[in-house]
Parts: sequence; structure tokens; C-alpha cells
Amino acid sequence: MFKKLTIGLVVGGALVGIAHSQEVPFDFQKLFFIFALIGAVVFMMLDASPIGTMNGGKSVFAVITFWILLITACIAGASLLPQFNPEDERAKIDKLLGKERAASQKGKAEELIARAKALDEQVKALEERLKGLGGGQAASVSLPPPSGEKPSSTAGTTAGGGGDVMKVGEEQWQLQECYNCHKLRGEGGKKRGPELDNIGSLLTVEEIRSKIYDPKSIMAEGYEKEYQKGVMPDKFKDLMEPQEMVALATWLGSFKNTSVNTPKPIKKK
Ligand code: HEC
Repeated sequence: MFKKLTIGLVVGGALVGIAHSQEVPFDFQKLFFIFALIGAVVFMMLDASPIGTMNGGKSVFAVITFWILLITACIAGASLLPQFNPEDERAKIDKLLGKERAASQKGKAEELIARAKALDEQVKALEERLKGLGGGQAASVSLPPPSGEKPSSTAGTTAGGGGDVMKVGEEQWQLQECYNCHKLRGEGGKKRGPELDNIGSLLTVEEIRSKIYDPKSIMAEGYEKEYQKGVMPDKFKDLMEPQEMVALATWLGSFKNTSVNTPKPIKKK
């Protein structure tokens, strides 16, 4: 019996060792160990002396008692282990998807507005051109091209809108997950990018905007390797509306905490 228990312990230890070396979570290591011990117990029970034959009420009682013991052991054992809680996972997924959903809905609405504005401008330009064609030949020469500077005009009108800019800016910081690489106000990962608490003292809003629009435009001193590798993603110009990017840059530009060592930006383009 001791021999079997020892074997069980050794096998359990070996399983834990292997699991540990494979970086299996600790709870699973515990589980493997318990399995090995259960195995040992089963083999030990094979050795036990057989119980005498029973009949009548006594046998029914014995069977029921055995089942109660077994079920108690199973439930108690299982409840000692950490439980999978689907609600936890759902909450996590909802949080992730919720953000995406909100972003895509907002993005769609804003895209539609921008498109409507662009179309409106084109219609106006066409109307003028038609007028010009009707009235004489020279008039059409002075007309601006129908595809004007749509981005900057949209940005101007919306960003001038008021105090919402800061809110939109902070929202974009969260939505675009800049915090994954940049620490700000002591929060977020500093693993891959510089802390930005003093960026407002080092760059103008327009320069910050250009860094977000084109990460190759500016390089943080001391981050030559990351700059070369293009660690900061070159995707924000596709993910953000121009006015959102201006808002984010404006918001970041208000960070002028000189006690934080934000690296010196070096212009590249
Ligand atoms: C995947 C990581 C990553 C993400 C996400 C990221 N950045 Fe960066 N960022 C970097 C790295 C690395 C640098 C330093 C190298 C360089 O300048 O390209 C940097 C540099 C900067 C700088 C210049 C800092 C200085 O001191 O010169 C600014 C400003 C900046 N990022 C803003 C942002 C904003 C705003 C966002 C979100 C829209 C963002 N970053 C998202 C990695 C990232």
C-alpha cells in the first residue's frame, strides 16, 4: 500500500514538474497532482480485502452510503478547485466588443456625415461650373476644383465647436489604445513607447497630430530602434476622422508635466 502511495506521489510530482516546465497554470498543476493521487487510491483499493456478501436492507444501505460518500468527495474536491465562471468571460468579451461596436457605429455615422458634406460641396461646385458655362466661358477658370480640402475644412468646423474637443481627445486615447504603449498620468504600459506627460511642452498640437497621422514624421530621442522598426502603428489615419485626430492632439498638447521625462522629439520629415 505504501509502495503504491509512493508511486502515486512520484508520478504526481513528475506531472507537476512537466506541467511547470511547460508554463501550465498553477491550478492545472494542482489538478494533475490530484489526478495522480486519485489513481494511486484506486490501485490501493484494488488491494483492499473484499467485503463479505450482504443482502436485504443492509446491502441497500451500504450502496446508498457508498454513493453519498463518493458524491460528497467529488463535489467537495471540485469546489476546492477554481471554478470556470462564464459570466466573467462574458463580461470580458462584452467589454472588448462593446468598444469595437461603439467605435464602428460612431465611425460609420461620422463617415456618412463626412461623405454627405463632400457630396454637398461637389454639387455646389458643379452648380457654379454650370452657371459659368451658361453665362460665359471665362467664369469656370476661377472655380476651385470640386474635390477641395475636405479634411481640413471639416476639422476646422468641428474642432472649433467648443469644449467637447478635450472629451473627444481623451476618448480617442482610450479607443485607439495608445495607452498600450504609452504611459500617461501614471497609467498604461511603458513597455514599448515613451511616457507622454510632458509632450505638450515639447511639441505643438499640429506636430503631435502629424506624429499620429504619420509616425515616421517625428522620432522620440532614445527610441531609435523602435522608430526604425516602426513600432508605433501607422494605422491611425485610417481609424480616425481628421477632427478626432486634432482633438486627440489638442488633448495631449495640454499635458505639460515637466517632472516627467518625456523624451525629446526629433523631426524626421
Ligand atoms: C504599439 C505601440 C504604440 C502605440 C499603440 C502608440 N505608440 Fe506612440 N510611440 C511608440 C513608440 C515606440 C514611440 C517612440 C519611437 C518613435 O518616436 O516612433 C512612440 C512615440 C510617440 C510620440 C512621440 C513622443 C516623443 O517624446 O517624441 C507621440 C506623441 C506618440 N507616440 C503618440 C501616440 C498616440 C497619440 C497614440 C495613439 C493614437 C500612440 N502614440 C500609439 C509606440 C506606440
